[in-house]
Amino acid sequence: MGMGMGLQEKYKTGQRLVELHARAVAAPAEFDLMHLSWDLLPGVFSPSHTASTALFGEWLPYPLAGHFLEVGSGAGVISVNAALRGCAQVTAVDVSEVAVRNTRMNAARHGVTKRVRTLKSDLFDALEPDVRFDAIFWNSSVIEPPAGFVYSNELERAIFDSGYRAHERFLLDGPERLARGGRLYLGFNSLGNFAALQEISDRAGLKMDLVAHATRTSGSYEVEFQLLALTRVS
Ligand SMILES: C[S@@+](CC[C@H](N)C(=O)[O-])C[C@H]1O[C@@H](n2cnc3c(N)ncnc32)[C@H](O)[C@@H]1O
Repeated sequence: MGMGMGLQEKYKTGQRLVELHARAVAAPAEFDLMHLSWDLLPGVFSPSHTASTALFGEWLPYPLAGHFLEVGSGAGVISVNAALRGCAQVTAVDVSEVAVRNTRMNAARHGVTKRVRTLKSDLFDALEPDVRFDAIFWNSSVIEPPAGFVYSNELERAIFDSGYRAHERFLLDGPERLARGGRLYLGFNSLGNFAALQEISDRAGLKMDLVAHATRTSGSYEVEFQLLALTRVS
């Protein structure tokens, strides 16, 4: 039933996910994913509650010997994997201070601190204006909350994108940050507002291609996870 949910039902599912995080991790914890163990700090998106991190982490075509930018790195699983799988340089940004700290912890835990730079940034804001990337990826905060929604903690930024403003900026500004031949990727899922994403993509002059997708059951509902590649229509 989940894939046909209305916006209100998707919002409620997002609220339940926020509550689940608050209940499950009150102190620093550990989890296993992609054959490794990871630290998780309270208030950071947990890759154990949904399948998104592991799926995107496996599917992403990491730019070998290139520079990978992860927007919204959370606990840092994907950024650390990018370094372990052969990216020469990784920049991991997150708008949440505690997520930046968590990514830094896991980069140190897996010995890739020299190749994973962590930075607190609202999307591309804190990046040097002239730095360019071979691939940019965001496992996005897909649920669109009702109009007037106000964030009450940092974790909510991992689940909700009010007015789809962060998606809009990712699609409008992302292509400017790519090196020649670079690719822009979005990790999306069926709890998101695909119609709003399509509208933004059209307005940005981009086309969306499905790189990989899979359906997973989460509690009583099904979610389809989609790795999208966004390319300029020339
Ligand atoms: C769905 S979580 C994914 C976390 C991690 N990449 C993973 O796959 O486990 C989305 C992440 O995006 C971050 N985020 C949300 N809005 C952002 C923004 N405007 N700029 C940077 N990061 C943002 C959140 O703090 C959160 O860590």
